[in-house]
Amino acid sequence: MASKSCFYLVAVIMLLLTTNAFSGPLSPEFYDKICPQALPAIKRVVEEAVREERRMGASLLRVHFHDCFVNGCDGSILLDSTPSFTSEKFALPNNNSIRGFEVIDRIKWEVDRVCGGPVVSCADILAVAARDSVVALGGPNWKVKLGRRDSTTASIDTANNDIPAPFMDLPALISSFSKQGLDIKDLVALSGGHTIGFAQCFTFRDRIYNDTNIDSNFAAQRRVNCPRDGGDANLAPLDSTAGLFDNKYFCDLVTKKGLLHSDQALFNGGETDSLVKKYSYDFEDFAEDFGESMINMGDIRPLTGTQGQIRYNCRRAN
Ligand code: HEM
Ligand SMILES: *[C@@H]1O[C@H](CO)[C@@H](O)[C@H](O)[C@H]1NC(C)=O
Ligand SMILES: *[C@@H]1O[C@H](CO)[C@@H](O)[C@H](O)[C@H]1NC(C)=O
Repeated sequence: MASKSCFYLVAVIMLLLTTNAFSGPLSPEFYDKICPQALPAIKRVVEEAVREERRMGASLLRVHFHDCFVNGCDGSILLDSTPSFTSEKFALPNNNSIRGFEVIDRIKWEVDRVCGGPVVSCADILAVAARDSVVALGGPNWKVKLGRRDSTTASIDTANNDIPAPFMDLPALISSFSKQGLDIKDLVALSGGHTIGFAQCFTFRDRIYNDTNIDSNFAAQRRVNCPRDGGDANLAPLDSTAGLFDNKYFCDLVTKKGLLHSDQALFNGGETDSLVKKYSYDFEDFAEDFGESMINMGDIRPLTGTQGQIRYNCRRAN
């Protein structure tokens, strides 16, 4: 009797260990045995792409975000249209805006080459490329959890509904993140992703012409390259040091120089003011929280185990 219950105990422990029940379905070591060359290969291609064009680091970070907020981090954003669905690339927040797909293709090709076959998912490639991009632009490092699998379908409707919009106020932003299981701290820390990259005039026009919680000199400066009519695609930096992952984004919010309405909403007399202020004083504080929140975002409803597939080509299901 004693040895029988002992056997069951051992069996249950073995099961828990093999199913990763303690560490969750994803783990940083997922590819350590199958393909230890995978992560260094991703880093090489990201570094090369960022050397060619610094903004690409920002663009790659954003792709991972827009992947995770649409039915989880499952690589759905990478799928091109098929007769049965329209690509998420054409959703309002993505169309003529999201970029970096050629770099993802290059990474996939290189990773499959060094691994001797398609063992790394496109969803994991996005998560690692986002981290490597942040590091390449001077930001924090963190251990990316891995083992996501790729979806076989995509949803333009979910992309239109679930990716937050730049005209949102704080309650809408909080509710958008909460729908993904992310809290207020995640919202503020992850919005710090806007410490790198650029936005098009049409995304901040209303803010620089109509908002009152904006520094007037800053608004005047931004209006020069963003007229009331036309120039929709003209670019402006999301913070005053758009090529560097620092905490200037939060300093800019404190001085009412947030570019997007949704950026300034985080420092506008509401419950997120104190966190914005803290991050504006202390880069290390922001850096640590950003890494933690990126892990939280990367945990959004992944496909694991026998769900989904490992795509041969990130642009289409096998
Ligand atoms: C909080 C809600 C958010 C809203 C409303 C929002 C909105 C936007 C908008 C409108 C743009 C400019 C797109 C364009 O003009 O083409 C943008 C750019 C960007 N976003 Fe966000 N975003 C949010 C959160 C995030 C998060 C969580 C991240 C990553 C952690 C992120 C990373 C970026 C980056 C890096 C860019 C620049 C991309 C580039 O230069 O190619 N954003 N975002
Ligand atoms: C996406 O952008 C293209 C090119 O500007 C445009 O022709 C198309 O109508 C847009 N698609 C959607 C769904 O808005
Ligand atoms: C600003 O507000 C006015 C009045 O509500 C509106 O007509 C206009 O379209 C808004 N946007 C810009 C860029 O002026």
